[in-house]
Amino acid sequence: MERSLVRHPGPVRQAISLFRDRFGSAPVLCASAPGRVNLIGEHTDYNGGPVLPFAIDRRTAVAGSEDEGWTVVSQVDGTVRAIDPSRPEPGSWTAYIGGVVRVLQARGLAPAGARLAVASSVPIGAGLSSSAALTVATARALVGLTGRRLPPAALADLAYRAEHDEVGVRCGRMDQIVSAQARPGHAMLIETASGAITHVPLHHAVWLFDTGIRHRLTDGQYNRRRQECEVALQRVREQGHRVDHLGEIAPNDLAPLVRAVPAPWGLRLRHVVSETARTREAAKALAGHDLGELGRLLVEGHESLRRDFESSCPEADHLVESAMRHGALGARLTGAGSGGAVVVLLPPDQAARLVTEIQEHFRQAFGGVPIAWATKASGGVRLRTSGRTRSS
Ligand code: GLA
Repeated sequence: MERSLVRHPGPVRQAISLFRDRFGSAPVLCASAPGRVNLIGEHTDYNGGPVLPFAIDRRTAVAGSEDEGWTVVSQVDGTVRAIDPSRPEPGSWTAYIGGVVRVLQARGLAPAGARLAVASSVPIGAGLSSSAALTVATARALVGLTGRRLPPAALADLAYRAEHDEVGVRCGRMDQIVSAQARPGHAMLIETASGAITHVPLHHAVWLFDTGIRHRLTDGQYNRRRQECEVALQRVREQGHRVDHLGEIAPNDLAPLVRAVPAPWGLRLRHVVSETARTREAAKALAGHDLGELGRLLVEGHESLRRDFESSCPEADHLVESAMRHGALGARLTGAGSGGAVVVLLPPDQAARLVTEIQEHFRQAFGGVPIAWATKASGGVRLRTSGRTRSS
């Protein structure tokens, strides 16, 4: 039974050798950026609330050299493609590359052209932010080819612009910030309204169980939920509350508002306001090493996603319930939702046994064994140029 995918070939090495293989020379540099797990604070980042993610130890690497035109290749199919960044290519992974190029060109930060080879160990569509890993690594590689160096926060902003403005996913800023700015051994409490970041130590491994159900942020449900939150905000204002974001609403005001705002908007409102409070509590629990309390908040967060935000799926609900029944400290669906991965806190001394039991229980219900692996909090974007590695 497959229990762990801890060993995987390094994407930096893979991207460099793919580059050599397809383009016949060594790349000038290779940037890599991590995917992320969001511990808690789901769908709060575009509602002015807090999030508590960390960078995982799986990365996307982009090896590159300057060129006259734009040519890309990915380890997924190994096909070398010429791209025209002035023409968006919806639905293709190259849309993210094109989006980054346009954003950089508009700011005078892009090289004239480039050859890029991409390799990744971040599962795609698993709610682990494979798209931010790709845009942040691409932005770092391209800026690097111009000889410039930008602060990680500026790279996060460029990558956000690429995904939000160019690819057209109305995402918040969480994923790009973590992928660019995370510190090894730390989760990040990001207050999205103020931009304040607190790095909270996280030294133990966290488990991920992949439901196997795939979603794409470009498929519409994500943008729909975001729009529902906007309607909820409008309804709240009609009730006389002067707020800029749902995340500003005081928990004490919630009950009458949920009575006044009809479903589904009232439900979305209840999720965002309760999740905002839970996320701040969770950051305190993590900082105070109270894993029991953190776990309890995770389960409450999952229940809120299931019942109020309606962004879970039966496979994720099963994994959360099963993990808790088997002795986990906490569990919840992570990321945009409708599938992807469930994050599980396991008591370290019993993890191996519990993982097998949870997988077997899932197999009995759904037929397949969910892939599970442990991840530790890793660092943000890095650049490697002929033998040197820089952490931004
Ligand atoms: C996706 C988006 C993020 C965030 C999460 C949900 O990962 O890119 O901005 O909204 O979904 O919390």
